[in-house]
Amino acid sequence: MKFLLPATLLMAALPSFAQDLAALTAETKKTVLPVVPKVVNAMQDAVADKGVAGAIPVCKEQAPALIKEKRQETGWDIRRVSLRTRNAERATPDLWEARQLADFNIRAAQGEKIDSLEKSEIVSIDGKPVLRYMKALPVGDVCLKCHGPAETLDAGLKSVLTAAYPHDQATGYTKGQIRGALTVKRPL
Ligand code: HEC
Repeated sequence: MKFLLPATLLMAALPSFAQDLAALTAETKKTVLPVVPKVVNAMQDAVADKGVAGAIPVCKEQAPALIKEKRQETGWDIRRVSLRTRNAERATPDLWEARQLADFNIRAAQGEKIDSLEKSEIVSIDGKPVLRYMKALPVGDVCLKCHGPAETLDAGLKSVLTAAYPHDQATGYTKGQIRGALTVKRPL
């Protein structure tokens, strides 16, 4: 049986997980996804009330704090990742995540709607079953103010961003692209 991949062995041993993938995914989404519109709405309000530079804490502190709250509530590993990070320390994808992000870009290019791009899979990590879930985060109008083409960004904002993120790769996006993803690792 040595030729079998560990994940294959795991699925053979635990067929019920395979049958439960849809139910586990639905439950994971219901728990985690409400964070996304909360951040988008907070961003829209903050930009309107405080201007762009004043809205930086929404992406820098508020979004991570909301995600941390969910992590503590569930015990799952929840993060934001991107192929072009602003904060590489927090948001660098692992191999599985990088592969899904690349695949999201391909699926979008093939005409799939970005709002519904997601991936769910049961994998084996250190011999234990884990549900991995990822949901694409699309670039909407408000995102362009801080993630749009560098030459379109507000000058004051640009200097704040450059000072805080000297290795920023998260500009140059256009509306409807994929900024990154929300990613979940849920031990089963
Ligand atoms: C006011 C400026 C601003 C706006 C508007 C903004 N962001 Fe961000 N974004 C940031 C900053 C600053 C960071 C780095 C956060 C950190 O230090 O973890 C960031 C990081 C991120 C990350 C984490 C990955 C990375 O590159 O570090 C994602 C995902 C993200 N933003 C998505 C969005 C989306 C989607 C929108 C629109 C709904 C948006 N942002 C709007 C400033 C902004």
